[in-house]
Amino acid sequence: MKILIIGAYGNIGKIVTPALQQNHEVITAGRNSGDVSVDISSIASLENLFTQTGIVDAVVCTAGDSVTSDLLSMTDEKYRTGVQQKLLAQINLVITGLRYINDNGSFTLISGKMGENPAKGSSGKAVTNGAVNSFVLAAALEMPRGIRINVISPSKITDIATQDLINGYFKSIATSANGEIIRVGYN
Ligand SMILES: NC(=O)c1ccc[n+]([C@@H]2O[C@H](COP(=O)([O-])OP(=O)(O)OC[C@H]3O[C@@H](n4cnc5c(N)ncnc54)[C@H](OP(=O)(O)O)[C@@H]3O)[C@@H](O)[C@H]2O)c1
Repeated sequence: MKILIIGAYGNIGKIVTPALQQNHEVITAGRNSGDVSVDISSIASLENLFTQTGIVDAVVCTAGDSVTSDLLSMTDEKYRTGVQQKLLAQINLVITGLRYINDNGSFTLISGKMGENPAKGSSGKAVTNGAVNSFVLAAALEMPRGIRINVISPSKITDIATQDLINGYFKSIATSANGEIIRVGYN
């Protein structure tokens, strides 16, 4: 498979990317790292990304910022960071990527445990991750041409067995899973 991974050199990406590279052609992308430069919060940059990659079989996103802060310190701007940099960025990745993905291809987005099991100080992450999950549940119902979409929802990376994380990505990319929130490292 030809697989595009955005955020390939981040904490999560650097675990997943080598595992995918064992059996697939992998194109890496990030703002300042990877084979192709992209800012997923910009639709123009996303178009430019896919113009460079051409048609792919799978799109994996392990990128997207959101803010951790006490509720009373949260601001409109802090919530907008998650909405723009992680939620809308990944939605636009899918909307744009649909024109560049093969039949029966797959999208694998990233959310996080705080979307379902929030802790104090996580409201910025919770609303962002919860909305990413909701987008995937809904979008999976309308994916054309046999294309699938799932989301990996990891716990804190230090609490996760590396192989469980990798297996989550394999499940999304290489099985019939569709519309699943793939939880990794939840207690
Ligand atoms: N680490 C955890 O414990 C954990 C747990 C649950 C969920 N998550 C979620 O998983 C995602 C990745 O976390 P991480 O810890 O791996 O983050 P990270 O170490 O900061 O890595 C993120 C990667 O994504 C790229 N990136 C960030 N924003 C981008 C953008 N707008 N356009 C293109 N590339 C972008 C960065 O590369 P450049 O700097 O080159 O752009 C970086 O390599 C986040 O959404 C995070 O909330 C993480």
